[in-house]
Amino acid sequence: MIKVGIAGASGYTGLELLRLLIKHPDVEITAVTSEKHQGQKLADVFPSFGGFSDLQFVSLSPAIADTCDILFLALPHTTAMNQVPAFLTGNCRVIDLSADYRLKSAEIFEEWYSVPHEQKEALSQAVYGLPEMHRDNIRSAKLVANPGCYPTSVTLAVAPLVKTGWVDLDTIIADCKSGVSGAGRKLATHTQFAECNEAVSAYGLATHRHTPEIEQEISALAGRDIRVTFSPHLMPMTRGMLSTIYINLKKDLELEALGKHYREYYKNEPFVRILNLGTFANTHHVAASNFCDIGLQIDSRNRRIILTSAIDNLVKGAAGQAVQNMNIMLGLDEKTALDSPGIFP
Ligand SMILES: NC(=O)c1ccc[n+]([C@@H]2O[C@H](COP(=O)([O-])OP(=O)(O)OC[C@H]3O[C@@H](n4cnc5c(N)ncnc54)[C@H](OP(=O)(O)O)[C@@H]3O)[C@@H](O)[C@H]2O)c1
Repeated sequence: MIKVGIAGASGYTGLELLRLLIKHPDVEITAVTSEKHQGQKLADVFPSFGGFSDLQFVSLSPAIADTCDILFLALPHTTAMNQVPAFLTGNCRVIDLSADYRLKSAEIFEEWYSVPHEQKEALSQAVYGLPEMHRDNIRSAKLVANPGCYPTSVTLAVAPLVKTGWVDLDTIIADCKSGVSGAGRKLATHTQFAECNEAVSAYGLATHRHTPEIEQEISALAGRDIRVTFSPHLMPMTRGMLSTIYINLKKDLELEALGKHYREYYKNEPFVRILNLGTFANTHHVAASNFCDIGLQIDSRNRRIILTSAIDNLVKGAAGQAVQNMNIMLGLDEKTALDSPGIFP
């Protein structure tokens, strides 16, 4: 059995890792951390795990890496950034769900996160964990930087267009909506029921930290610097993320040709579904699943492609993708513990 630790197991993505890994046939969860709940039993704090686990929360320490083969870090960004090199000294491999190792450039990280990045060596080892783009590097990675939720939904939708020459890559606009669990479990005024229920609000316009991550991946595919306009919104729902993306066409294009190209591009990807033409992505259809659903449309009057991309922010946008990465790293069937249609309604 593969021994697995989850740092930050009392948070939303940590709990989602637990939900998925507890049913994984090749995994034994050996450690779960929470500072607030250390010493308490997981099932006492979170009764949904009653009957499934006798685990007890411990405090995060470097010693945790000695007890596991894979350590998931489901912690706020910068919390464990400086501990990662210590976690990597032995045989343990790390999958970090935070943003600490996602950006290849320490300077760009410092510009957007306003903290110094002092772990340049670990940063240079980190592999960006979007399997559809970096599967071969993920296999042998010691440190995987699990992508952000918005970058997952936007990058998967845009990637097939990048090398076609059909679109003007300098016109990408991503209008994205997230459920409230995207902000994590910590208390904050804007995520209190009375403030976010029955309200839709834009936030982080032109400044959101996922912008350079989306740009990094699309630029790498394009072979030149690409800028995107990224506009996130908070929606009154618990989980789910929908991105509607607009890109100007450089030539006339039939919707059937676009559909054929997308289906061919993702034909071997178990977790990307290209929707039937005329059907658009819906967060209900991916809830609690690891799927990314992509819908296609051409607005021929305005010579624009309109893409819709739906994921569950906690699954393909975080914990599910992290488990997918773990399966790849261990040479297991990539779909293990993830092969589920989710829940509807
Ligand atoms: N939520 C999403 O949809 C999503 C999607 C993609 C990526 N992410 C990223 O995943 C990471 C976790 O997000 P989340 O939404 O799960 O956050 P969360 O619900 O706020 O959970 C944070 C976890 O970190 C622990 N923690 C907080 N401060 C700590 C500290 N100083 N030392 C040790 N442990 C600490 C908390 O434990 P206690 O408070 O119990 O001590 C809790 O278990 C973040 O970096 C986030 O950006 C989140």
